[in-house]
Amino acid sequence: MVLGPDELEKAVAILKKNNVLAIPTETVYGLAGNIYSEEAIAKIFELKKRPLNNPLIVHLHKMEQLQEIVKEFPPKAKLLAERFWPGPLTLVLKKGDNVPDLVTGGKDTVAIRIPDHPVTLALLEQLPFPIAAPSANPFNRISPTSAAHVTGYFQDALAVLDGGSCKKGIESTIIGFDGEEPVLYRLGSISKESIEETVGEVRIQNKAKSAPNAPGMMKKHYAPTTKTYLTENAKEMASLMEGKKVGLLRFTGKSEDPKYDHIEVLSPSGDLAEATTNLYGALHRLDSMKLDMIIAERVPNIGLGLSINDRLERATQ
Ligand code: TXA
Ligand code: MG
Repeated sequence: MVLGPDELEKAVAILKKNNVLAIPTETVYGLAGNIYSEEAIAKIFELKKRPLNNPLIVHLHKMEQLQEIVKEFPPKAKLLAERFWPGPLTLVLKKGDNVPDLVTGGKDTVAIRIPDHPVTLALLEQLPFPIAAPSANPFNRISPTSAAHVTGYFQDALAVLDGGSCKKGIESTIIGFDGEEPVLYRLGSISKESIEETVGEVRIQNKAKSAPNAPGMMKKHYAPTTKTYLTENAKEMASLMEGKKVGLLRFTGKSEDPKYDHIEVLSPSGDLAEATTNLYGALHRLDSMKLDMIIAERVPNIGLGLSINDRLERATQ
């Protein structure tokens, strides 16, 4: 069932009945449930086939709700929240006693964000509880950036509140803390440079060590079902392509080339923000074309390009 943005009452009723609902955000669609309902949270894990030790993000609509959720709010977390909320920033902070262990995978920290989407902010305002929402895709699949992507995955098993296509296009940037010092757990819709403008240099949690802190950051993630290869330059892949139906994902340039069955150009004008917005839609389209393989070209490794390349690496492990 797809609910229009004017059907908030129905969305509220679903969530109040301990059911789950897909919601739009500016990053990707989320699979939402009441954080205080064991039944709802269990349904989220079950639908996504997600391991129980992989914690969920709690979504709020105003900063005042933080008191209910966290024990500490370090000064640099406050600076980041003031600059980026509502927006694609997730902060991992010491959790308050109210927050159920099921939501945090048994950790003593909780991930929180205030999403920047008018429909979901209006929904949250009408609810007497915050919602937990992972991305609304089955475990290890490409995140959904439209209501159609969500129904493609879950059909009638999940109602979707349609808020249009997601304007940022990849998940939030996640920042945790080592004492007072911010640590980048997941590259996302806010570039590392923008974070650093606010709080100075941040270290990226190294990949091997990231597993215990951000269990969702396992290597294989965000993956198409079609075999996907990542390269600096698609020309290098010519020998693999013989006799195959091949799709190409490229940053910029031509969208026609007889060597390929289909080409997705992320940004004709070479703009990394536009490429980020288009990334998952392009991967979803390529993955639905019954190709033998997808070749993805790396984008320039600066600004949001780091986040795009991170997702492409995970899609091709
Ligand atoms: O943009 C987003 O963040 C989207 C929208 C729906 O808000 N949500 C999202 O959720 O991407 P999910 O569950 O797909 O990814 C959340 C990531 C996971 O990698 C999880 O392990 C990590 O956040 N995470 C959650 N709680 C954490 C915690 N307490 N400590 C460390 N990592 C945590
Ligand atoms: Mg996810």
